Amino acid sequence: MKKVIKKIALLTSGGDAPGMNAAIRAVVRTAIFYKLEVVGIMRGYQGLIEGDFVPMESKSVSKIINLGGTILHTSRCPEFKDKEVRRKAIDGLKAAGIDALVVIGGDGSFRGANDIFKDFGFPVVGIPATIDNDIFGTDFTIGFDTAINTAMDAIDKIRDTAHSHDMVFFVEVMGRDAGFIALHTGIATGSEVTLIPEIQKDIDSLVDYLKIGRRKNKTSGIVVVAEGGHLGSAAEVAKQVKERIPSYEVRVTTLGHIQRGGSPSCSDRVLASIYGYESVCALLDGQSGVMIGRVHGSTVYTPFEDAISKHNAIDKSWYEITKILSV
Ligand code: ADP
Ligand code: F6P
Repeated sequence: MKKVIKKIALLTSGGDAPGMNAAIRAVVRTAIFYKLEVVGIMRGYQGLIEGDFVPMESKSVSKIINLGGTILHTSRCPEFKDKEVRRKAIDGLKAAGIDALVVIGGDGSFRGANDIFKDFGFPVVGIPATIDNDIFGTDFTIGFDTAINTAMDAIDKIRDTAHSHDMVFFVEVMGRDAGFIALHTGIATGSEVTLIPEIQKDIDSLVDYLKIGRRKNKTSGIVVVAEGGHLGSAAEVAKQVKERIPSYEVRVTTLGHIQRGGSPSCSDRVLASIYGYESVCALLDGQSGVMIGRVHGSTVYTPFEDAISKHNAIDKSWYEITKILSV
């Protein structure tokens, strides 16, 4: 029998992503529309363990749709991997009269959410929010679009200096083990080479490729390096290239957390608003243990079990296209 839901809680967990606030706003406003009580949990699973709950009203989420970060704050909370810690956290939710939970985060956060669902049967639904775009069950995660636009703007600026000084820049972008940010920004900035974890490349073929560019009178270059790449960090790749071609002026820029911040793009605000709305509808419909996603333009529910164990593949043909476009 479907459990009657009267009061829900929501939290943001893991790395922050632009658009999390838009998702918070949508969850809160949809809950209020359906006459549910809604509570925000501060600092992700850390606040869940500590019972750091705040009542949310419509006004609590006014004027946040355009803000980066998360008004609920977030955390990495290793203690949550302990079943007894999770049990106490769920007892705390029940004691506060909370019937269901919305978790906004990445795949790590969904591992925690899946444990809550499996071990204690507590109703929980997930909203995918991470700049890495590495979650199975959705074409796009909240934050990815903003992050690639931030990285693209930064690389465009670096290109000016690379060109003016005849330099080769090695620009490291985030993405953890996935190359989505690198592949998209590599294409969008016309980088000479893009190194992603999904495709093995050896240093000699990279060097040969750069030399071919020089022979064609390219005096500068951009190599986009995904942080999880096989050849190491951008600094390590640059060092190896310099050892092989000492005449090159090389520079390294690690874009870092600039990619996680900032006002969300229109696409991320829309995606977050739809996911937030859909998450509350899913709970009211008796769904649990699933993540909301969009696949080929339709909203889908993916079991956490799949979302955390499967992977979205990079379109390898795009990688080949980047090579063709930089001949
Ligand atoms: P993201 O959600 O962005 O992938 P993390 O990997 O840091 O970020 O995960 C966020 C949080 O989810 C962790 O700090 C931890 O509290 C919880 N978590 C991650 N993995 C597990 C797990 N295997 N079991 C229970 N909780 C987990
Ligand atoms: O998952 C988002 C992300 O920014 C990854 O791209 C990166 O590997 C990681 O988080 C960095 O985490 P932290 O901010 O804890 O160093």
